[in-house]
Amino acid sequence: MKIGIVGTGNISFRHFEEFNKIDGVKIEAVCDTNKENLEKFLSLYKEHKIRGYSSLENMLSSEKNFDGITNATPDKFHKDTSIKILNSGYNIFCEKPLAENYKDAKLMVEAAINTKKINMINFTYRESSAYQKLVDIIKSGEVGIPRHVSACYYQSWLSSNKWGDWRKEDKWLWRLSKKHGSNGALGDTGVHIFDFAINAVGDIKEIFTDIKTYYDKGKQIGDYTLDANDGFNSLVRFENGAIGTITNTRYATGHANSIILEVFCTKGALKVELDESRSKWSTLNICQNENINKMIWEKIECPKTPNNYENFVKSIKHNSKIQPDFNQGAKIQKIIDSCIKSNDNNIWVDINN
Ligand SMILES: NC(=O)c1ccc[n+]([C@@H]2O[C@H](COP(=O)([O-])OP(=O)(O)OC[C@H]3O[C@@H](n4cnc5c(N)ncnc54)[C@H](O)[C@@H]3O)[C@@H](O)[C@H]2O)c1
Repeated sequence: MKIGIVGTGNISFRHFEEFNKIDGVKIEAVCDTNKENLEKFLSLYKEHKIRGYSSLENMLSSEKNFDGITNATPDKFHKDTSIKILNSGYNIFCEKPLAENYKDAKLMVEAAINTKKINMINFTYRESSAYQKLVDIIKSGEVGIPRHVSACYYQSWLSSNKWGDWRKEDKWLWRLSKKHGSNGALGDTGVHIFDFAINAVGDIKEIFTDIKTYYDKGKQIGDYTLDANDGFNSLVRFENGAIGTITNTRYATGHANSIILEVFCTKGALKVELDESRSKWSTLNICQNENINKMIWEKIECPKTPNNYENFVKSIKHNSKIQPDFNQGAKIQKIIDSCIKSNDNNIWVDINN
């Protein structure tokens, strides 16, 4: 199976490593508009004899037989590049967020529907087997109806050097700049935590969001105006009557990359804690039955499940639909737009209006 990669920055190395591990899959060609990044990628993997191009257009006109293309460009480029890939007849694996806004996300969904190609968005944290078990248990009704939800996404790259000095690297600076297509923490990691919460609990009906951009980190670095948000808190009302808080910050000192979801239901409670090292990704915490009155949380070890890369390849092989798809990406984008509207107008927003 032949895979192409668009964008050879930070996340593209993971795309390469994960696809390359799968039997019968080969990364055939890559492209990047940044010569330095393209050459770095090609030289790192030179024994794989990957062909490199200076643009998506060059790659599409020179290569004919991809089974799928992954889109690892920054958020701002997802719409145009993904639509081009779909219209060229290729299945697509696109990085999150799907787009910069719901309007663009809808155009991407339309292109996916019209071309009938397999389309997937890389909501990475869906890969946790403990999370998948949490979703199954909630959907089975075993712990009753969700009543109260707490979903947190914590990163600390603005207050630690865990991932290097953000002031010196383009890959962090574009994430802080609206002009460079970023919706800040909300668009970058907020999409993950909203997907994580609603896929488990159900759709959100109404939302109130407080978004924060800290100007004391400096207003300008080179071409980057640091005006995209650093974190947010959302109050949510779910369609099924549950209420919850969904929060995200890049100032969570002590957390490199943590996602914590707690769902309290009428007959039990569930909790997953995902960490940077993935050491807790397979452990589901559950309090139910006789443990409810003893405040005891049982740990359930959940066997590892296929990752998003493996699922994408499998769905190409079987020509079957896959989740999370572009439609889910657009649904999350609508929530992001609603958060911005709520913050700007200081109002609760009905997601479906
Ligand atoms: N799923 C996850 O958990 C996860 C993790 C990290 C990043 N991401 C997403 O991956 C995307 C890329 O992030 P990154 O950290 O790798 O960024 P990056 O800046 O390190 O790399 C992006 C690369 O795309 C190239 N590029 C830009 N426009 C292009 C175009 N039109 N054609 C070809 N190449 C182009 C850039 O030159 C750069 O080399 C973002 O959308 C980000 O949100 C997702």
